[in-house]
Amino acid sequence: MQIGNLKLENKLIMAPMAGITNMPFRIIVRGMGASLVFTEMVSAMGLALKAEKTLQYLKSVPAEKPLGVQIFGSEPDVMARAADIAVDAGADMVDLNMGCPVKKVVKTGAGASLLKDPKKVRQIVSSVRKICQVPLTVKIRAGWSPEKAVACEIARVIEDCGADAIIIHPRFANQGYSGKAVWSLIGKVKDKVKVPVIGNGDITFPSDALNMMKLTSCDGVMIGRAAVRNPWIFRQILQLEKGLPVDEPDLSDRRSIIMKHYNLLQGSMNEHRAALFMRGLLIHYTKGLPDSGRFREEFNKIKDLESLVSAMDNYFRGLMTG
Ligand SMILES: Cc1cc2nc3c(=O)[nH]c(=O)nc-3n(C[C@H](O)[C@H](O)[C@H](O)COP(=O)(O)O)c2cc1C
Repeated sequence: MQIGNLKLENKLIMAPMAGITNMPFRIIVRGMGASLVFTEMVSAMGLALKAEKTLQYLKSVPAEKPLGVQIFGSEPDVMARAADIAVDAGADMVDLNMGCPVKKVVKTGAGASLLKDPKKVRQIVSSVRKICQVPLTVKIRAGWSPEKAVACEIARVIEDCGADAIIIHPRFANQGYSGKAVWSLIGKVKDKVKVPVIGNGDITFPSDALNMMKLTSCDGVMIGRAAVRNPWIFRQILQLEKGLPVDEPDLSDRRSIIMKHYNLLQGSMNEHRAALFMRGLLIHYTKGLPDSGRFREEFNKIKDLESLVSAMDNYFRGLMTG
């Protein structure tokens, strides 16, 4: 797949996810076969004001490249300035968030609330396009609410303003994550524009990714929640696509991915945040394993990263030696 002038190794993309797609996580999923990763949404205003904390989100390392930076905001000139700063910091792609339904974001006129205002969408995408030297994508939802299913109309505006691809999560903003993503809408958007369309939403199993591509003719797929539970999903989709047997992660795979995370987390954020993040990952990576409930109770009481990892190591050692 190619987006603008950026050639990707395959059609599988990791979704931007707040609180999750930090650098360690991005490196892990790139290693699993995702051909493109994104930062979580970054405040355009924070970047434009050069707020130290916001600028931290732009840090990257070669192992995760190519990296897209996703920005959110509501003012065209601020979005353009932010995109410029992201590119200067090394972004290989810029994505504009027009899908976030979270109150804190939409009340400022950003995220999914832009779907109510095609004129504003036009102004923002045009302003960013003028300044942005790397491929530009826009991530949208189906619309604000079912009475306003604007995805096709908005997609045309976005393409007209020079964006290089459209990413669509076909749920309405007022749905949050309830109900199901309506994949047929991805196909409708694909029919309306010439730029690549990336489908997103409810890819849970490897076969879902292939089904989405088959049913909608989308050019690529973006995976969010399933990749948090199962970062191996990218490798599994690639295996399935080639007709190869699909590898399920065994205990040693799970243990080694936790250790890899541990090593990457150390030094990339402060101890407290790293321990919190690690705890969240342990919940995912031990789900369904023997005695995981008891282990979870144990590690939920642990506060420091090192003790967390040694508790995890003991748990896995116990399982592996049976
Ligand atoms: C915890 C969480 C954080 C998210 N953060 C972002 C974000 O920062 N930017 C964005 O465009 N979408 C964000 N999303 C939406 C995902 O990118 C994706 O569109 C959504 O989860 C649907 O895909 P999935 O069914 O594969 O998870 C987030 C979703 C979740 C669950």
